[in-house]
Amino acid sequence: MRYSVLAPGKRLRPALCVLVGEMLGAERRQVLPSACALEMVHAFSLIHDDLPAMDDDELRRGRPTSHVAFGEAVAILAGDALACLAFETVARETPDKDLVPELVCELGRAVGTRGMIGGQILDLAAEGRPPDLDLVRAIHVRKTAALIRAASLMGAISARADLAVRETCARYGETMGLAFQVADDLLDETSTPEALGKSTRKDLERGKLTWPACAGLEASRKMAGALAEEAAQTIRPLDKNGDLAALARFVVARTF
Ligand code: IPE
Ligand code: IPE
Ligand code: MG
Ligand code: MG
Ligand code: MG
Repeated sequence: MRYSVLAPGKRLRPALCVLVGEMLGAERRQVLPSACALEMVHAFSLIHDDLPAMDDDELRRGRPTSHVAFGEAVAILAGDALACLAFETVARETPDKDLVPELVCELGRAVGTRGMIGGQILDLAAEGRPPDLDLVRAIHVRKTAALIRAASLMGAISARADLAVRETCARYGETMGLAFQVADDLLDETSTPEALGKSTRKDLERGKLTWPACAGLEASRKMAGALAEEAAQTIRPLDKNGDLAALARFVVARTF
């Protein structure tokens, strides 16, 4: 569990949660349990995503994947245990106990059948299917954008933001999350294992239904940029110092 969750990753989801929470007036200690839980869930999703039964990858965050290092059984169980520890952490460590049910509910929704796991099911089922932009959007919204949406929303909940503000933060997170996965698809085709810390050119090989597979590289770059701008516009009324607009632009300009 430590091997995967403490490995060098971008920490996008916890950073987003903390940025949104602090922007809306929460103290860091009020958001940190949610931020840690988001990274635990994310690490769980990566461990299982890399398993031979799923994407069958051997490199993650610049290191051998969990199942390569420890065997499949331990990798499956480390993922399961990280998922459980995430919910335990929110429930036990969140200082504002009255917010726990809502935080747990939003995290669960983002991970479950209508979120990351549902998206992973669609992703696997779509392997080898002909280009279909509506389907690829449905996959990306669930497998990736749902958790990034939850990161932003959990920051807003931790700050006791009103419903309209929560809705704006959720929409910002979801739009940025979709941009993030389009950028991930592009990097798989255009980057290197040295830069990314994971293998590249795997999506084509496995017949994954990605944005570039459906729309081509150039249109995918445009789409990612347009989504990042849409996210930045969405959050503008709340984004006093421009950090969240900068984060949205980073997710599509990144090279790792
Ligand atoms: C990779 O996520 C998996 C996707 C959802 C595309 P990240 O690109 O955030 O991975 P780390 O956390 O930096 O390793
Ligand atoms: C994975 O998408 C999304 C997850 C829920 C982990 P990918 O399969 O494209 O992620 P990478 O490229 O392996 O990081
Ligand atoms: Mg995958
Ligand atoms: Mg993968
Ligand atoms: Mg990928």
